[in-house]
Amino acid sequence: MLILNKIKEIKDEFNLELSNVKNIQELDTLKNKYLSRKGLVASLFTMMGSLSPQDRPIAGNELNNLKKSLSDKISSHALNQSSEIKISNKIDYTLPGANLRSGTVHPLTKTVLMIEDIFQKIGFSIAYGPEIDSDFYNFEALNIPQHHPARDMQDTFYLNDGNVLRTHTSNSQIHFMMDNEPPVRIIAPGRVYRNEDVSVRSYCLFHQIEGLYVDKNVSFSDLKSVLNYFARELFGNDVKTRFRPSYFPFTEPSAEMDVYWGLNSESDKRITKGTGWLEILGCGMVDPEVFKNVKYDHSLYSGYAFGVGIERIAMLLYGVEDIREFYKGDTRFLGQFR
Ligand code: DAH
Repeated sequence: MLILNKIKEIKDEFNLELSNVKNIQELDTLKNKYLSRKGLVASLFTMMGSLSPQDRPIAGNELNNLKKSLSDKISSHALNQSSEIKISNKIDYTLPGANLRSGTVHPLTKTVLMIEDIFQKIGFSIAYGPEIDSDFYNFEALNIPQHHPARDMQDTFYLNDGNVLRTHTSNSQIHFMMDNEPPVRIIAPGRVYRNEDVSVRSYCLFHQIEGLYVDKNVSFSDLKSVLNYFARELFGNDVKTRFRPSYFPFTEPSAEMDVYWGLNSESDKRITKGTGWLEILGCGMVDPEVFKNVKYDHSLYSGYAFGVGIERIAMLLYGVEDIREFYKGDTRFLGQFR
């Protein structure tokens, strides 16, 4: 029977073509070629009419088998292809994870947080003053007279509108006292700016923490005991401190506190200028002139204030020799402070 040969031919041809199919589009074309209404299989059905009545059921059966087998092969091939696509789109959970680098807290921020913690434990709260401020808050109210060298164009960044970039956090004292009645027990951290030559030891921007305590009967010995507590918390119980008389326009008397750093290494000698002592802050009893400027009754209230340089402390704590490292944003430097 001619038709049976034809069926076999078509079947072989189909199998060959199917084995070469590379994608869904090609599979579709193949399906059309064989199984569409005008496809090769359909054309065989038209030959049925010319068959003898005995041959017809045999040929019909073979043709139906052919049709079913081709369409089965096409669907199972389509299934394999799409599941291959699905697999390639899937996330492979057995692969090692991408190595995301986590950030670190900046050493200056760490130092500020540490100091805040030390003072919060003894009842100080945190206040903030503005970085752009008027001459009044940065100088005038702090009893810094017109001719004072701190006002020199050398040190202060003046803005066109007459305001200044604050040169110290002491402006926060004035803001707080103008807005609040005594008693006061605050620390005020923040950035300050000075028009200085940039070097290993100084930068045009740096950080301070201001402290202010105002109440009835506050004495210099209160100041000393709080600052000694601060030094012990920061540098350990064995730390040795000393207070040296100094001068600040907004405190009277004024002092600077040194800690004994030792003279064990060359770098100790260098940073303490051969004395073993290192200045870490300025302090004093709030000058009555300042109380007058913020309308506090200076016959009733007294207080102390202090200002700590954050970079100085961070350099000591972490052994950083160049202040500019804090401002480069170099992740090799910053990554060490985990
Ligand atoms: N404002 C001073 C400075 O920038 C630091 C300072 C000294 C602050 C004595 C104080 C203080 O509150 O009492 O150098």
